[in-house]
Amino acid sequence: MFKGKTILVTGATSGIGYKVCLDLLDAGAKIFAVGRNQDQLAALQKLQPENVQTLAFDLTQFTKYSETFASVPGLDGVVCSAGIADSNPLRFFSLEKYQRTVDINQTAPIALVAELARNRKLNAGASIVLLASIMGTKIGRNGGAAYAGTKAALTGFAKVMALELANKSIRVNCVSPGMVNTELADNQSEVSTEARQVDMQRYPLEKRYAEAAEVSSAIRFLLSNQSSFMTGENLVVDGGYCAQ
Ligand SMILES: NC(=O)c1ccc[n+]([C@@H]2O[C@H](COP(=O)([O-])OP(=O)(O)OC[C@H]3O[C@@H](n4cnc5c(N)ncnc54)[C@H](OP(=O)(O)O)[C@@H]3O)[C@@H](O)[C@H]2O)c1
Repeated sequence: MFKGKTILVTGATSGIGYKVCLDLLDAGAKIFAVGRNQDQLAALQKLQPENVQTLAFDLTQFTKYSETFASVPGLDGVVCSAGIADSNPLRFFSLEKYQRTVDINQTAPIALVAELARNRKLNAGASIVLLASIMGTKIGRNGGAAYAGTKAALTGFAKVMALELANKSIRVNCVSPGMVNTELADNQSEVSTEARQVDMQRYPLEKRYAEAAEVSSAIRFLLSNQSSFMTGENLVVDGGYCAQ
């Protein structure tokens, strides 16, 4: 399905982004993998050296975008999966933490898509997928004001980008997962194992969190021609959590 297509994936070194890279390679795509962890990037490259290009880059270095992304080939797809989830409750609010979350989760995706669009790196018919979340777009959770704000912002960006890029048949959509079993979810140190077990019971489908593969398949749907008339949308993958 992705033979001859080149797709840039941020957050390629871990969790959802990593799984998307593996699945796209399996489906015949070439990938341009972006992350900071050089060992992980090298491991990815080793899998299919002829089909994987890597870029070790901190996506918050906005002033370096034009020189850094100049080497990117024409793209048929972009997946913006890089993100962080720092707890930042209002009573202990840290502006520094807030700004870091905004930089990576919110500013980086729009700056990247703008950079690629301005430099005509997006082929006609390309598809862009932004990783949002049910947090912010559907629900709130204590301590998550910054994170929720960034994810809600992405659904707004997707609508505007979809309109601005529609004349080249470039589509822009979000995927909003509930909790997914990845490092990001594991690293929420304020959540105890017991609390996590309780939280899983709130997921109607099988009382569990999603696996990265289940989010990756929604992302591949949006990258593919199977979703050729969908743009500016937000696809929820949450095992029925928000249906309650
Ligand atoms: N897991 C969940 O429960 C869940 C739920 C809803 C939405 N999401 C969203 O899905 C996306 C992927 O999450 P995940 O669970 O796969 O997270 P993850 O396993 O923690 O991976 C995060 C990725 O972001 C990259 N990253 C972080 N800061 C970066 C920076 N400054 N510059 C470049 N890359 C950076 C990391 O790369 P390096 O380590 O190499 O820098 C890593 O590849 C995120 O946007 C997240 O908000 C996740």
